[in-house]
Amino acid sequence: MSAAAAVAEKPSALKVERVGVIAILQDQPTLERIQAIVRELHLDDELSLEATLDAALRRMREGENPRVLIIDLSDSAAPIAELSAARTVGGDDIKIVALGVVNDVALFRDLLAAGATDYVVKPVSREALAAALEKRSATATAGGGLGQVIAFIGSRGGVGTTMTAVSCAWILSEKHNEPTALLDLDLHFGTVALKLDTDPGSGLSDALEQPSRIDSLFVERAMVKVSENLRILAAEAAMTQSLAVDPGAIDVLLYELRRKFAWVVVDLPRWVTPTQRVVLGAASRVVVLCERSLAGLRDTIRLQTLLREHAPQTSLLMVEAGASGERATVAKGEFEKAVGKSLDAALPYDAKSAGAATNAGQPLPLAAPRSAVARELEKLVAAVAAGPAEKTKKRKIFGLVKW
Ligand SMILES: Nc1ncnc2c1ncn2[C@@H]1O[C@H](COP(=O)(O)OP(=O)(O)OP(=O)(O)O)[C@@H](O)[C@H]1O
Ligand SMILES: [Mg+2]
Repeated sequence: MSAAAAVAEKPSALKVERVGVIAILQDQPTLERIQAIVRELHLDDELSLEATLDAALRRMREGENPRVLIIDLSDSAAPIAELSAARTVGGDDIKIVALGVVNDVALFRDLLAAGATDYVVKPVSREALAAALEKRSATATAGGGLGQVIAFIGSRGGVGTTMTAVSCAWILSEKHNEPTALLDLDLHFGTVALKLDTDPGSGLSDALEQPSRIDSLFVERAMVKVSENLRILAAEAAMTQSLAVDPGAIDVLLYELRRKFAWVVVDLPRWVTPTQRVVLGAASRVVVLCERSLAGLRDTIRLQTLLREHAPQTSLLMVEAGASGERATVAKGEFEKAVGKSLDAALPYDAKSAGAATNAGQPLPLAAPRSAVARELEKLVAAVAAGPAEKTKKRKIFGLVKW
């Protein structure tokens, strides 16, 4: 066989054999029903149970290749993010059967778009489950038509996370010409709007408290236009306003944004909240801004663990934070050894360019285009876009963003 033929044959040779059904269920009657139906159908798939989706995804990341994943989403606060995570870890050819209690066509469509192969309403009927479990190949929805979420989070405060998120969103929208949404989830102290010299607008904090208000019309109205391709969603909640953000609201909001934009860039505060988990669960990339201090090292490692355990679908990019300045006391080699990987990019300390950008209310690559930081930010965006960008290109046929 020629070398070219051998290479051409490789993909099918690598195709994994998928066997078994993993189910994450909420109640005993559904469990008994599914066990009975699997027995009746004489499938040679073994049915095994997991208590949580995280545990099932861990098994899959460790090498298990189930043919079917059944997830009961009845009590899920973030069904869309959970499906997206399952699809990302499981790949295109796993069947993902979502279970729920709401019989609604719009919900059905949304779940399919987020990565489900099928949606079955409880109590599960034999016919519906048999059709969902049958052995023809899964439809490779793979979150078809949805944009990518990239979360930016600092290992410490004040390390330049917002500057980096704003700059990357600007490069994606203006240099790569991709429809981009920039979401500031620091509802009280966020500075995304400030850094772009815009009003944060109203609506985000209200909507997060009342998820039922979030739909595509809301998103169109609540977002503030920075340019043809860049919109922001931010808030400047009053200091007296304590916001109880429903994680389900973030899930729906991210979904609506992903329907409209190729990229959803999230500036994520470091507080550990259920909403943070939802964002990390929905993200295909997480960029951690690392401060090379002892505290920065400790918190980078803790974020690494959090992502490995709770957002296994995401790929992590570690960036040396430019604004750390004199706090960067741990040598680069030592830092990389401790985190077990080399840093993906290093933003230099450049107070002049950062100050010029802040004063002008402009993204740094616009205010200081020839600076070394701007060049490094371009490289970071290239790394972020590598991989997911291919899917994004395809998604453009779905006509994202028309205002
Ligand atoms: N590469 C850099 N070199 C020098 N100063 C920088 C650099 N990047 C950002 N800065 C400056 O550091 C300050 C903090 O930046 P930024 O608001 O982006 O940080 P942050 O990590 O988001 O902070 P917070 O934790 O408060 O959200 C700003 O004054 C900004 O202009
Ligand atoms: Mg910030």
